[in-house]
Amino acid sequence: MRLSIIGTGYVGLVTAACFAKLGHNVICVDIDPDKIQKINKGISPIYEQGLGDLLSTHKKNITATMDYQNALTDTDITFLCVGTPSMKDGSIDLSALKKATIHIATILKNKKTWHLIVVKSTVLPGTTQQIVLPLLEQHSEKKVGTDIGLAMNPEFLKEGVAIKDFLQPDRIVLGFYDECSRTTLRELYQNFTCPIVETTLSAAEMIKYASNTFLATKISFINEIGNLCKKLGIDTYDVAIGMGLDKRIGRPFLDSGIGWGGSCFPKDVDALIAWAKELKEPTRIIESVKEVNTDQPLRLVTLLQKHIPKLKGKTIGILGLAFKPDTDDIRDSRAIPIVKELLKKGAYVKAYDPEAMENFKALFPTIQYCMKPIDILSSDAILITTKWKEFTTLDFQGKIVIDGRRLDQAKNAKIYEGVCW
Ligand SMILES: NC(=O)c1ccc[n+]([C@@H]2O[C@H](COP(=O)([O-])OP(=O)(O)OC[C@H]3O[C@@H](n4cnc5c(N)ncnc54)[C@H](O)[C@@H]3O)[C@@H](O)[C@H]2O)c1
Repeated sequence: MRLSIIGTGYVGLVTAACFAKLGHNVICVDIDPDKIQKINKGISPIYEQGLGDLLSTHKKNITATMDYQNALTDTDITFLCVGTPSMKDGSIDLSALKKATIHIATILKNKKTWHLIVVKSTVLPGTTQQIVLPLLEQHSEKKVGTDIGLAMNPEFLKEGVAIKDFLQPDRIVLGFYDECSRTTLRELYQNFTCPIVETTLSAAEMIKYASNTFLATKISFINEIGNLCKKLGIDTYDVAIGMGLDKRIGRPFLDSGIGWGGSCFPKDVDALIAWAKELKEPTRIIESVKEVNTDQPLRLVTLLQKHIPKLKGKTIGILGLAFKPDTDDIRDSRAIPIVKELLKKGAYVKAYDPEAMENFKALFPTIQYCMKPIDILSSDAILITTKWKEFTTLDFQGKIVIDGRRLDQAKNAKIYEGVCW
């Protein structure tokens, strides 16, 4: 099939590369000329395991352009994958989505054939039908449901394992406005063996928010249990194993630590809270989930001060800046509030991350960045903030190590403390 992907960030580019691998012809559209250039050379503009290889192997099936006209004319299905970031009040910023939709609609106005628009960006229930649909009709002067198809297909990939998640998902969720869109997307996804949930546009949108908020809840819950366990001298990871064997609970997302970050959970939780406020519905559980997560990273600094009460003038090493391993994404990384707190307390900060240092430099240009993890070891104490595999083999040479991520071992640490264990 001929597909265009609008917005080639983490979701758009993985979607493009995976559909190309499955034999489809894909045109990527972005407003960032650097990204376009790199994709056309078969190079990934972001770090995501296996993405570079996919892009170069399937180069002949993928082209990238800033020109919507060619992309829309030469394809039949368009996935909207632009960002939907948080605004100051927590609600989501739909400006990129609206702009892209208007751009698409003005081109569809002169297109003779039926075209399917699929919203893949995370948007609140009602957005596809109440915002995207009217913009499409207004600017194309065509009818959605007859001339233009409309669907909502939320993405559940996890950065770091995004390609595997896309190609072997637990489920695919497809929300439809019209029958023709249903038939077309069934065909596109026909070789996937996972369950496919077919539903309305709004239910598809809500499934994404409910899923992310539930996962964030699971983590905040185990962190609250973990904080209790820490006080009682219980290993929370034993508790997680015991709980997780219950099929109703399950072991994933019961890893206690310094909390959740990234580009999705924080903004999706905020958006749901802000939206519920508008609807005048209380979100007591979800607000607590967020509160626990705001406090959790600072516990690492409190623990550190048990061993070094005065941080002024001390050098603290930070191992890990990405919000999770195997990505260069630092959006809402738990390292951010930790570094802020250390600087506020007058500490010097040395940091290392295998992939995310360039991104972190844009936020904290003045802290010291190390070339190798071993360079961190000259610090007075080390905080582990991302569970990169390479940190597990590090010899900590008699240092104080405070672990926020349950490294399998902190070899030869003088003092080792876990945040919840
Ligand atoms: N990152 C994830 O793990 C993840 C997972 C599931 C869902 N999502 C959702 O998917 C959407 C995209 O997320 P992302 O992380 O890929 O975002 P991103 O910020 O990495 O990428 C967005 C891309 O859209 C481009 N863009 C912006 N305006 C544009 C326009 N008018 N036309 C064309 N391109 C434009 C940007 O240049 C950028 O490359 C969001 O709604 C997000 O919530 C993200």
